[in-house]
Formats: sequence, structure tokens, C-alpha cells
Amino acid sequence: MEVKRVIGNRRSIRYYLPFRPVERWKVQKMLQAARLASCVGNVTVARAIVIWKDQASPELIKAITPPLGYQQMQTAPCFILWYHDKMSYEVNKWIDDLKNLAEQRRIGEDVEATKAIIERNLRPAFGAAWEQMAVAPLAFMDVGQAVAQATFVAWDEGLGTCLMSSPRLEQIGKLLNLPETAIPVCLMSVGYPAESWEAGGQTSKHPFEEIFFEMQHGKPFEEDSQVVEEMKQEGMLQEPAPLPWRDAELKYLSHALNLEWQLAIPGLAPREGEG
Ligand SMILES: Cc1cc2nc3c(=O)[nH]c(=O)nc-3n(C[C@H](O)[C@H](O)[C@H](O)COP(=O)(O)O)c2cc1C
Repeated sequence: MEVKRVIGNRRSIRYYLPFRPVERWKVQKMLQAARLASCVGNVTVARAIVIWKDQASPELIKAITPPLGYQQMQTAPCFILWYHDKMSYEVNKWIDDLKNLAEQRRIGEDVEATKAIIERNLRPAFGAAWEQMAVAPLAFMDVGQAVAQATFVAWDEGLGTCLMSSPRLEQIGKLLNLPETAIPVCLMSVGYPAESWEAGGQTSKHPFEEIFFEMQHGKPFEEDSQVVEEMKQEGMLQEPAPLPWRDAELKYLSHALNLEWQLAIPGLAPREGEG
């Protein structure tokens, strides 16, 4: 599928076909896409653990269940825990990764001269600051890049995904044998959508000109309407949610999948008629 159409088709999928397993080879392609993502100095911070629901203990599933995830947790056959390993930034490794970029003719022109600059200028700076840099916002961006690439490959393979966050993820280290240096970032559900591919329409986003600027903050990057039309033709911009039949689809899904209402937010009980 064209990349722009994949971007347009993607939306968070929260209902999956529970009886249809996800092929291991498709997950392998997703992980490979994550590995190929751009990342600071090619240090490769992003890590992932694939959790097959039918092989996971009830204790593990309970531990990874986020407050806003009852549909995904009850229906997805596969989950991926994406995490960050701070040791990717360890100074000697980081310097080696940078030198490796010089060897690959990615940075600099003259290999030896570039390596000498890295050694002379970057090693002292990184040596003093790598531990802080390993947990700075920029470092977590690497995980986002990796996850985004894996997401698009999932969509290209006909799968749906949803990212989920939970404060509990910080406590699952022992269950998954994570190293001390690991920082769980988010959980992704993966499966074949039980929803129609439109899933109620494209999720509406904040207006383009309110979030993107030209030359300075506050000066909107104005959209060209012809380009907007082109993006509609290419499938990147689609009918926004909710499509008129979305409520009926949700009702149908909830009954077909026999879902229990389980929004695990303390104090938030099911409303009359829900569940
Ligand atoms: C880091 C992250 C955490 C998220 N956590 C949850 C979650 O716990 N439960 C959920 O239903 N959706 C979660 N989402 C999905 C967002 O709600 C969704 O991406 C957003 O509403 C935009 O919709 P779209 O993905 O369909 O474009 C999360 C997304 C991200 C990127």
C-alpha cells in the first residue's frame, strides 16, 4: 500500500477478532521496521517484548492492563511492550556507535578525521552527561520513531494496533525479566480488526494551522487547498469520525465480542445500560 494511504487508513483499533491469531512473521516485520528507524547517533534505544496472549499468565495480563484498555485487552491476541534501555547511551557504546557511522560513511567525509573529532570533542561531553541524556525527552523520541514505523508495517500487513499507557507498566519489570536499566514506555495491542477498516472514520485532529507555523510561532503555515484535495485523492485525508453508522457498529461489536465493561478507573462505574 502507498505510504500516504497507510497513514490515512491508520487509526487506533480497539476491537480485534479474538479467534484470529497474528502471524509471527508479521510481527517480525514490525520489529524489523522498528529497528530500522532513525535514532540519536544510531544508539538504538528502543526495545520490545512480544507477548502472545495465549501463552501469557493471567498475572501478566492483569499487570499490563491499562485503565483505558478493556476492549483491546479482551480481544487482542498479541501485545508488544515497547521500552527504552538507558544503557544504549552508555558513553563507550555511544562513541562506538558514532564511529561506526563514520565507518559507514554516514557522518563526515574522512573516516579517521571524523573519528578523531568524535574522540576529542564528543567523548568528554558525553562522558559527563550520558546518564542524563539517556533519559532526556530526545532519547524517548527514538522509541516513538520505532513504534511509528512498526505501526505502519502492521497496517500494511492488514493488522490493527493501539498504543496504551499505564502507570502500572513501571511495575512489570520482574514479570518480564527486564534489566534494571529498562524503562517501559507503552503497550501496543496487535490483531486483526473486528471493526470495519474505516473504524468509524479518520480520527479528527487539531486544526493544521493551529499547530504548524512558518518562520515563527503564531504565524500559521497556511494550507494550499489544492494540496488538501490531492491528499484526499491519495487517501491520506479521509472522512472524519464519527461516520453516521459508528454508534450502531460499536453496539454490534460490543455484543458480538461479548465484552465486559471494565474501564479500570477508580470511581468510574458502568453507566445504566452499559456493559
Ligand atoms: C503513548 C500513547 C498512549 C496511549 N494510551 C492509550 C490508552 O491507554 N488507551 C487507549 O484506548 N488509547 C490510547 N492511545 C491512543 C490514543 O488515544 C489515540 O492515538 C489518539 O486518540 C489519536 O487517535 P488515532 O490513533 O486513531 O489517530 C495512546 C496513544 C499513544 C500514542
